[in-house]
Amino acid sequence: MTVDGAREDRWEEGETVALKARGRPTVLVPLAHGPVRVGEDAAIDLGAQIGAPPGAAVEWLGTRYRIVRPSLADLLGGVRRGAQIVTPKDALELMFLGGVAPGGRVAEAGAGSGALTIALAFAVGPHGRVTTFDRRRDFLDAARANVARAGLAARVAFRERDVARDGIDVSGVTSVVLDLPEPWAVLDSARAALVPGGHVATYTPTYNQLERTVQALRAAGFDEVRALEVWERALHVGDGGTRPSFEMLGHTGFLAAGRRID
Ligand SMILES: C[S@@+](CC[C@H](N)C(=O)[O-])C[C@H]1O[C@@H](n2cnc3c(N)ncnc32)[C@H](O)[C@@H]1O
Repeated sequence: MTVDGAREDRWEEGETVALKARGRPTVLVPLAHGPVRVGEDAAIDLGAQIGAPPGAAVEWLGTRYRIVRPSLADLLGGVRRGAQIVTPKDALELMFLGGVAPGGRVAEAGAGSGALTIALAFAVGPHGRVTTFDRRRDFLDAARANVARAGLAARVAFRERDVARDGIDVSGVTSVVLDLPEPWAVLDSARAALVPGGHVATYTPTYNQLERTVQALRAAGFDEVRALEVWERALHVGDGGTRPSFEMLGHTGFLAAGRRID
């Protein structure tokens, strides 16, 4: 037991762990009995960790790594990119606007590379569920592989479907999150899929798409409609020379949201 009486954290077989060493890239590894391939030509055997608490140290390829539970940043850093992925700042705001919470049931489209899927699966926790749609099988396969590498496959269902043409065919979801070119074409079926109180959140790169999406949210009868953009500016912190970074990610996308109340 821990000090607050919670059950002690122990590694389970199949979980993804993060290997951390100062100044080295994070290495994500699924826990298994026996050697697991890492990258092109390396392998590691962490089988002895199964059942042990996180935080042990391991010597691997001449470096001492600490074995820790991966953060969402670690998991998103491990995504192999096919389709353009949402940035962490936008993924987090989409989770907020989309009302994504532990135990939630989320419908997402499109899956793309699965970066947003990973963030959603992380947020709903072990008792939640994400169903992600994409009309392209190659993107679904890429997303499935990335979600599996993150150790979150048990929380996600992958569906090949054109949701602009055929709609979202799930029901009773608490959130719908859309990152595809025509979110307005999905909103009627999104509303039907949502429980009362459920949220929809959308991500589009242009003002034109945002305007059309917000008009469609209003026309579809959503409440609490809003639109926004997230800016993130890194700061260089020095001794007496703290200042904003000269570079900033100029533009990523615009977010819109609504809620099914009536
Ligand atoms: C920009 S990517 C999504 C990236 C994803 N959010 C991520 O973080 O990795 C857009 C995806 O939407 C899919 N898509 C576009 N129109 C669609 C539609 N009508 N139905 C289903 N998927 C669609 C595309 O195939 C593509 O994979």
